[in-house]
Amino acid sequence: MHQTEDEIIVKPMVVDAERMIATAPPSTDKSMTHRAIMLASMAAGTSRIANPLTGSDCLAMRRAFADCGVTFQDAINDAGEPQWIVTSKGLDHLQQPDHPLDLGNSGTAARLLIGLFSSLKDFKCSLTGDDSLRSRPMGRVVEPLRNMGAEISYTKSPGKLPLTITSHCLTPRTHNLAIASAQLKSALVFAGLSTHGETVVELPAGSRDHTETMLQHLGASIRRRVSGEREIVSVVGPWRPNPFECTIPADPSSVAFFAAMSAIHPSLQINAQRLIKNKSRIGFYEKLAEMGLEVCWSNERIDPDCLGERVADLGVKSGVVLSLKPIHVPAAVTVRMIDEVPVLAIVATFADGVSLFEGLSELRVKESDRLSQLVQLLGAAGVRVEHGPDWLRVYGSGIRPVNAFSFDSDDHRLVMSAMILATKANGPSKIRGLSWIDTSFPLFRRAFQNITAGTK
Ligand code: S3P
Repeated sequence: MHQTEDEIIVKPMVVDAERMIATAPPSTDKSMTHRAIMLASMAAGTSRIANPLTGSDCLAMRRAFADCGVTFQDAINDAGEPQWIVTSKGLDHLQQPDHPLDLGNSGTAARLLIGLFSSLKDFKCSLTGDDSLRSRPMGRVVEPLRNMGAEISYTKSPGKLPLTITSHCLTPRTHNLAIASAQLKSALVFAGLSTHGETVVELPAGSRDHTETMLQHLGASIRRRVSGEREIVSVVGPWRPNPFECTIPADPSSVAFFAAMSAIHPSLQINAQRLIKNKSRIGFYEKLAEMGLEVCWSNERIDPDCLGERVADLGVKSGVVLSLKPIHVPAAVTVRMIDEVPVLAIVATFADGVSLFEGLSELRVKESDRLSQLVQLLGAAGVRVEHGPDWLRVYGSGIRPVNAFSFDSDDHRLVMSAMILATKANGPSKIRGLSWIDTSFPLFRRAFQNITAGTK
């Protein structure tokens, strides 16, 4: 088979009977990097972010603030880690950009910045993005902000980027949201930081809480509680951070690809260091354990260097019995592993029985319609699936190879999921869309090649 730059031919992987132990690449967290860039740009003075994720999504966020006059210097800290030195005059002194800020493929950057910028004083800017981002819903953020008095106008299509924000002092409100989205929650919290009084956000389920943890650590007046399945966050503004130093820990959504490899290749053990072990992010690992994998966390701690985030080291290997149990993923768990659904569905393909995933409607509005692309991928590999508007049933047929397949995607998580699936096919598979992987995981390809070549 012929291979071009944007595609890869993945051959089935054979792991020797003897156990192979590999370490997942130290790819750091996308959500925390986004928020660290925002907080450092809000603080008047110099902050330092060690181990930032350099995926194109986070670089789009960094570029947006650079276009507003914040300076970013690339350095290496005393521990030998890459570090961004961020110098800002503070949120109230950002330069108004003279061109639309291009947020590329990043939904998180777009939504969080809409919240942050709409609540400033005397600031006007336009936001845009690539084809995928321009097709994603922004009304879910814009409507509640308009309810607080924000002035946001769509340039081309209602509910979509590009849009223009003319900032105003906003009125605090209690928002009762229908969607459990951390991006939406965080956008309103960032707006609340420039609003006089208490902004409250209620969501139907607990979503990732990095914004709350980081803000609390830096001294903001913010509270989060979970009542039944509902999540309630309240923030009192106005508030501005002081400059800070932090280190970004490893991203559980990225390590998940290698953990999944270990699940479907029984003699492969995957280790990862200083990984986020926050309840709102580890639904995937709980489900792997339920399937019969040994998921061992050690050295668990609240890390002040990571702005109060809970981190731990991880080892994943198959249990004594080399078969995977099917799983049920209810909607409240889906939200705690929203980005890992495709790769968990790949693992479910090799389970002994039928797995059911629920609460998947948000997958329809990610970087692609992820549910459709996932169904297409599994179908191409000959896996039997059924799906509805927000659910998926995967008929696992045990730990035996699927059909070799061809797959083309413009969604980073689907491209990586396809590569993992291809390691367990009955012949070489061709996957196109490799350049998208840089969105969230620039180190993926090298690590994947090392592990499939048997290098630790
Ligand atoms: C993110 C939240 C999630 C996730 C995205 C990052 C964040 O989106 O899919 O990759 O950093 O807040 P939703 O909160 O919209 O589900």
